[in-house]
Amino acid sequence: MKKDTMTALIIRNVRLYGEGDAVDVLVHDGRIDNIADHGTLTTLPTECEEYDGRGNVLLPGFVDIHVHLREPGREDTETIASGSAAAAIGGFTAVYTMPNTNPVIDNNNLAEMVWSKGQEIGLCDVYPVGSITVGLQGKELSEMGLMNKGKAQVRWFSDDGKCVNNPLVMRRALEYAAGLGATIAQHAEEDRLTEGAIAHEGPMAAKLGMKGWPRAAEESIVARDILLARDAHAHIHVCHASTKGTVELLKWAHEQGVNITAEVTPHHLLLNDSVLPTYNGVYRVNPPLREESDNEALQQALIDGVIDCVATDHAPHGSEETCCEFAKAANGMLGLETSLAIMAQVMVESGRMTWRDIARVMSERPAKLVGLADHGRPLEVGEPANLTVIDPDAGWCVHGEELASIASNTPYEGMEFRARPVLTVLRGRVTARDGEAAL
Ligand code: DOR
Ligand code: ZN
Repeated sequence: MKKDTMTALIIRNVRLYGEGDAVDVLVHDGRIDNIADHGTLTTLPTECEEYDGRGNVLLPGFVDIHVHLREPGREDTETIASGSAAAAIGGFTAVYTMPNTNPVIDNNNLAEMVWSKGQEIGLCDVYPVGSITVGLQGKELSEMGLMNKGKAQVRWFSDDGKCVNNPLVMRRALEYAAGLGATIAQHAEEDRLTEGAIAHEGPMAAKLGMKGWPRAAEESIVARDILLARDAHAHIHVCHASTKGTVELLKWAHEQGVNITAEVTPHHLLLNDSVLPTYNGVYRVNPPLREESDNEALQQALIDGVIDCVATDHAPHGSEETCCEFAKAANGMLGLETSLAIMAQVMVESGRMTWRDIARVMSERPAKLVGLADHGRPLEVGEPANLTVIDPDAGWCVHGEELASIASNTPYEGMEFRARPVLTVLRGRVTARDGEAAL
């Protein structure tokens, strides 16, 4: 059942965006009711829950515009409930779940089912992404208009996992989406260049005898889509940008005034093909882990705003699909519960970003892209209380079996990280605390 938002909560001793002196934040009726110097709030509502923030960092709740929750169809690897729990633990208050389920989310009934289920569970707002084409077949457009007008108000469409390769279909999708004020999020992969590919095409794959997925397979589609979106006056979004060439194309498109945005995953910021000699199937992902020079270009693009936001591409798979021969492994890895830790390590602990920047790329900017009015808001009185508290020095070790996701295919098994979300609040209600969802 959806939990009520009427109780009050006081989050004591936190630093807004990790800046300035500690404050106490009073949350009431689902909104931020008061922000005062730490220790100065004396009159509190009756039945007010107290939380000791221990000087930690308060940020707006994170928004992930690209996850796979596998319901319907593969509930043995993730459900809307388990994925919502993983999201809440990871500091997220809203997630967008991709339509490559079985059946595919290409109609309004299914879109509304996903939305309603997320609301009933109440741990995280779960928004369905509608497919662009019926059954992800790349041929006929799906019920985009009906999904957009329905209860789930779908404004984000993608055939993720597959590229809309036919340029005529893509053109029509962009034109139709533009008319709805919606966005086409493309999985950019010229699949005639990636047939049989299992890893990034480069010296490492050549050495290991793995068939390569060239950067140009992504970049050629991004380049084509820039031109199609320009002509259709549409908003095109690039899912999981993975190459330095894509970064250059984004810069060029911005200079031309094309309405293009992009996301990058934590794994494409941190990991590269140097992990391939392990032959561990957990590292197989689409697009593949590239090279260190790509990690660097993607990090810089995120700092500069050329890439708008971080999205996990959280992709649960069963152990039989990842603990197997590399060539047979499924593409994708878990991301929701480790995203903040990776971002903190790669961007904040390295001194390249501040916590305010993290709020921008993990909350404010993604919320803006998808048109969410109640998430990614400033930490100010009167704003919806969708919040997360980060302990920058929690210190923790990732164990796939301990994660809330049903699947355990994390590429960070056994790795130590410093930062971790310790409290997540959705519309004033605690949804996760210290690595446990508030079920
Ligand atoms: O690695 C991936 N896994 N990339 C995708 O685009 C799809 C996803 C999945 O559904 O597992
Ligand atoms: Zn995906």
